[in-house]
Amino acid sequence: MLKINGLSKTYENGVKALNNVTLDIPKGMFGLLGPNGAGKSSLMRTISTLQDADSGSITFDGIDVFADPQSLRQRLGYLPQDFGVYPRVSAYDLLDHMAILKGIDNKAERKEAVDGLLAHTNLYQHKKKAVSGFSGGMRQRFGIAQALLGDPDLLVVDEPTAGLDPEERNRFHNLLVSLGEEKVIILSTHIVDDVSELCPNMAVLAAGEILLEGNPILLTNQLNERIWRKTVSQEEAIEIEQNLSVISKRLFAGQTIIHVMADQAPEGFETAPANLEDVYFSTLHSHRNAA
Ligand SMILES: Nc1ncnc2c1ncn2[C@@H]1O[C@H](COP(=O)(O)OP(=O)(O)O)[C@@H](O)[C@H]1O
Ligand SMILES: [Mg+2]
Repeated sequence: MLKINGLSKTYENGVKALNNVTLDIPKGMFGLLGPNGAGKSSLMRTISTLQDADSGSITFDGIDVFADPQSLRQRLGYLPQDFGVYPRVSAYDLLDHMAILKGIDNKAERKEAVDGLLAHTNLYQHKKKAVSGFSGGMRQRFGIAQALLGDPDLLVVDEPTAGLDPEERNRFHNLLVSLGEEKVIILSTHIVDDVSELCPNMAVLAAGEILLEGNPILLTNQLNERIWRKTVSQEEAIEIEQNLSVISKRLFAGQTIIHVMADQAPEGFETAPANLEDVYFSTLHSHRNAA
């Protein structure tokens, strides 16, 4: 549905934010996973027609996005990473205002759309409250409500879960899942669980390049029987890192758990089921080592 071909962008300060990005994104939820500075927001803004590229093309359902941005905008909903300052107006009035900007001129139709979206995002009971007083989770749900005005076929949501507490994040995930499989939904995130919980398709972006693309389950299965685990002290961890291909190191109950990728068990390691975090970290790790 959404085809991105050879997209590159270098900012005026010389930062190469996108380096020959090619992606074919089908309907459903697509996870764009990458660390800070990877180029996620740059890509999302370019898809959303807010900035240009130096080279490459984007088409959505046959629309050439650079040649005909207006047609794309009519089918697009976008939740930017920084949604900016919220005015002290009620959720209802703000969404109503945004609906007017979106071109929903008929009053009855607009009321139905605004009420419906506030209900869908679980904000109906708060509709008279100022958005400026909303919690982080409520703001992000409001952000989805405004992005859904006009029933877009393409929804771009840029790091919507950053900063949400686990309960809010869970609620937000459920909202995203409720949007169904008929839209193209691109979700950018640096949180692996966002992708593993939500996305049948994903790509890893780092330093402006697509490093990996595919189905999270298949990608994870490819690492099965190659991931080994050991619980160690911090000193031991440092020593192991000098000798083995350590892909992740995490703390659990004050102890360090190391994941290593290898064809055979290193001395003292036990087998561990592969997970998407292993996929992500091993991809970033081998990219760093190649650089
Ligand atoms: N408007 C800009 N001008 C110059 N550099 C930018 C601009 N926007 C982003 N960058 C740089 O481009 C790189 C990618 O940024 P960004 O797309 O925001 O990545 P992400 O969203 O993955 O954190 C970073 O090095 C960032 O500092
Ligand atoms: Mg970003």
